[in-house]
Amino acid sequence: MDNLASAVEDAHERYTRTHPESAALDRRAREVLPGGNTRSVLHFDPFPFRVVRAEGALLTDVDGHTYVDFCGNYTAGLLGHSPVGIERAITEVLHHGWAMGATHRTEIELAELLCERFAAIEQVRFTNSGTEANLMAIGTALHHTGRTGVGVFDRAYHGGVLSFGDGGLHHPLNVPHRFVAATFDDLDSLDDLFADDDLGCVLIETVQGSGGCRPASGEFLTELELRCQDNGTMLILDEVMTSRLSPGGAQELFGLTPDLTTLGKYIAGGMTFGAFGGRRALMSHFDPATGGTLTQAGTFNNNIVSMTAAVHTLRHELEPDRLRAVNERGERLRAALDDAFTAAEIPLWVTGLGSMLNVHTDGPEHLELFFHAMLADGHYVARRGFIALSMAVTDDHCDQLIESSTTWARSIR
Ligand SMILES: Cc1ncc(COP(=O)(O)O)c(C=O)c1O
Repeated sequence: MDNLASAVEDAHERYTRTHPESAALDRRAREVLPGGNTRSVLHFDPFPFRVVRAEGALLTDVDGHTYVDFCGNYTAGLLGHSPVGIERAITEVLHHGWAMGATHRTEIELAELLCERFAAIEQVRFTNSGTEANLMAIGTALHHTGRTGVGVFDRAYHGGVLSFGDGGLHHPLNVPHRFVAATFDDLDSLDDLFADDDLGCVLIETVQGSGGCRPASGEFLTELELRCQDNGTMLILDEVMTSRLSPGGAQELFGLTPDLTTLGKYIAGGMTFGAFGGRRALMSHFDPATGGTLTQAGTFNNNIVSMTAAVHTLRHELEPDRLRAVNERGERLRAALDDAFTAAEIPLWVTGLGSMLNVHTDGPEHLELFFHAMLADGHYVARRGFIALSMAVTDDHCDQLIESSTTWARSIR
């Protein structure tokens, strides 16, 4: 066995020794939950720690370990854990009932706030997840154009049934649309994409989040927008993650006006959420008064908990200064981690934009070692190297992560 493989074995052995309760719960979980969990990305080897408390920037597990949470629920945890304002808003509204099965005021207020905030959204509808929002956006765009092709990019992730990573277009759970593949951030590949003569929409993230925090160039995005306009193809901007990158979302940052935008993750302060919205001409397909023939189902689309939490988040938690601060902190962290790896001359590097960043490596062992070394020092980054800063993570927390990374990088040289 080579040195790296045996170092990984040692890290797993140390982790297992220090997490006996999590190990026992993992054995129990595997009996009834395939793989021991119900969200595959939360698994890591040898087994994940089980959380009993989440507060601010911190997670505490059943074995009594506390971690600074750099994973930030894969961007959904932007506000940090258990923000008091969200708790108060939800608790208060529950006194008046939930699951109403009827319309209410809060969904209007939320729609107004989103239309105000994101320039390309004139009208909006809610869903229960980002996946569902993207499915609805694609369906709306294809209905509007009467076409069949859906342009997507390599390594893109738009939900569990819209996944274009290692399996390319052919992830076994993907919905059966006629997907047309293109290469992310590659101007030449747009020629192939638009050679399709029935391209109804293109779905893209300006910064691929799950695809490794890869930002596209402004030039590429602008060209894509122009080609879409020329071709009558609907541009769908997946802002489920990237809308956190500036007060008006990535569309403001890159100067884009997509036909449809999808949202999710942090918007409801950690509660389940999704939304799709955009030009009135497209969204009016859901309005019978203007001749629209589409209906949107969803028992929990306007659920009072998510609607209330989202209104609170948009009104009281996402002040432009706070949003800018968390993104600037992410930029500093990315540069410092990258410098630490470069100085140690080890094959790791960091990509990303603002508060979304990803540590990359040539081989899997270095990333596994990095992940476990950070855990042992009390820092939880996502297993794949993904970091999504929350507003509760401070400069001190970041300095500690940088220090741990630097020490670790020197130690494995
Ligand atoms: C860019 C992007 N779109 C869509 C989704 C799907 O959102 P959800 O997990 O809420 O279905 C995700 C989830 O990670 C995402 O990162």
